[in-house]
Amino acid sequence: MALSFLLSASVLLLAFFCHHATALQQVIHDDGCIHLPIVHSTNVDYFSTKRGIQLQLANRSDVAYYAQLSIGTPPQPVFVQLDTGSFELWVNPDCTAVSGADAVFCERAGQYDTTRSSTATSLGTTRTLRYGIGSANISYFTDTISLAGSPMALRQVQFGVATATEDAFSGILGIGYGKGIATRYLNFVDQLREQNATRVKAYTLALGSKDSREGVIVFGGVDTSKFAGKLAKLPILPAAESPDGVPRFWVDMQSISLTPPNGVNTVYEGSGAPVFLDSGSTMTLLPANLTRAIARDFGAHAPDANGFYMIDCALTALKGTLDFAFNGVTVKVPYKELTREVASTPPSCFLGIMASERFALLGDTFLRSAYTVFDLETDSIWISQAANCGSSPAALNNIQDLSAVTGACGLPESVDSASSTQVPSSGLENADAGTVPTSTGRIGPQTSGTTSPGRVTPTPQNSGCSPRVPGLTWSFGMVMMAALHLFRDL
Ligand SMILES: *[C@@H]1O[C@H](CO)[C@@H](O)[C@H](O)[C@H]1NC(C)=O
Ligand SMILES: *[C@@H]1O[C@H](CO)[C@@H](O)[C@H](O)[C@H]1NC(C)=O
Ligand SMILES: *[C@@H]1O[C@H](CO)[C@@H](O)[C@H](O)[C@H]1NC(C)=O
Ligand SMILES: *[C@@H]1O[C@H](CO)[C@@H](O)[C@H](O)[C@H]1NC(C)=O
Repeated sequence: MALSFLLSASVLLLAFFCHHATALQQVIHDDGCIHLPIVHSTNVDYFSTKRGIQLQLANRSDVAYYAQLSIGTPPQPVFVQLDTGSFELWVNPDCTAVSGADAVFCERAGQYDTTRSSTATSLGTTRTLRYGIGSANISYFTDTISLAGSPMALRQVQFGVATATEDAFSGILGIGYGKGIATRYLNFVDQLREQNATRVKAYTLALGSKDSREGVIVFGGVDTSKFAGKLAKLPILPAAESPDGVPRFWVDMQSISLTPPNGVNTVYEGSGAPVFLDSGSTMTLLPANLTRAIARDFGAHAPDANGFYMIDCALTALKGTLDFAFNGVTVKVPYKELTREVASTPPSCFLGIMASERFALLGDTFLRSAYTVFDLETDSIWISQAANCGSSPAALNNIQDLSAVTGACGLPESVDSASSTQVPSSGLENADAGTVPTSTGRIGPQTSGTTSPGRVTPTPQNSGCSPRVPGLTWSFGMVMMAALHLFRDL
């Protein structure tokens, strides 16, 4: 569900395939996994229109997530927002309906012109798509879709071309359930599997921390260099048993608790509940009384007119975490990641959680700290603490038990209570007292400063997908795949 606030964020996700950069590149495209690096808007290198001139993304200081698709023949590049909470792909927002920095971003995200594609076919049908925020009236087309840098193209993929939009500054790539569950046609994720770009209908999401400013989505595989510890398996609640009856990625969350700096962990009463995982939502939405209890511990006693709880920016420098427990794994979200930082002068900060009686969802303010595998074949989510210790995307050859797979990384220092970092002495020493530092730390606007030389595309240093996931036992199929892989690499 697209719930990214216009005053929020952007991340660009520049795409390339997992195959090896060899002379055989043109024919090797069946590594079974596609990984797309995520580049955050805060990384000015990616947002320069010209060297030295950067976009005014003043208020886009936290994040939404964009993937670059190339649609049509010849390919037209467009950026679309990655949304686990919706099901369909559409492009071409009406940029005149947004203003300021959002309009600039909207223009930069690119448009797809059906009349300039020799492979575009109109299906003659229309629909209105409504999101938590925004809507789009679309006409359905089919066309070829490729991912930047890949010789592989998905043919005759159905998607929407907008005729009118409201509150949308980019198209949306819904990566929720597809045909037979949430759509009447094969959606993008279905097509990746159908056309053998992946061997499983599953993908993993590692949005990346604010500081690392880079993440990765791996379609058809996992990346053990993006998490710490083990993965917990969470069954996706069937739509009929979910709170809103919609086939979203609903899972049971056991509890939310607070670990203040040097403090004792306290659990919020009644915080266990079903929640859905929604990369299309900037904020995390929770019931009002729970949100109030958490906000109070961050020193915020009432929301503003828009429902946001303003908090002291100095909190982002403290080493505390809000902890989300699931079936034996706890995802610890550092204060900084939980905070929406708005680069106004002076900077203002908001709790990344707001009250909603309509939805209970974990959005980007949670997902940046989690590593999640979405398995749409066995209706399971595997979750772990996000970390970053390199890049090692590996294809899943069939849907397997991932409980033996452990992350290659150690716990990030920001969530490791055993590590002895100096933390400022003011702040959330005592969660119950809700003490807040009075000084306003300057979390400078991320978009200011000098622009470094433009690095326009990510360097595909390790663009190959490994044919096997570390930690998994070898099956006959894997051995065969590895053999094929070796053969092809000769
Ligand atoms: C950024 O946000 C602040 C506070 O909401 C607002 O006053 C300002 O106009 C915004 N700037 C831009 C460029 O949108
Ligand atoms: C989309 O279509 C509906 C129904 O035809 C219409 O009421 C609505 O105004 C349209 N939306 C926009 C943004 O034009
Ligand atoms: C995908 O692979 C299957 C099994 O190898 C094959 O039957 C099917 O034709 C392939 N589909 C495409 C679009 O290549
Ligand atoms: C919120 O309300 C629910 C239902 O009344 C209750 O079970 C829960 O304990 C409350 N949570 C908090 C943190 O007050």
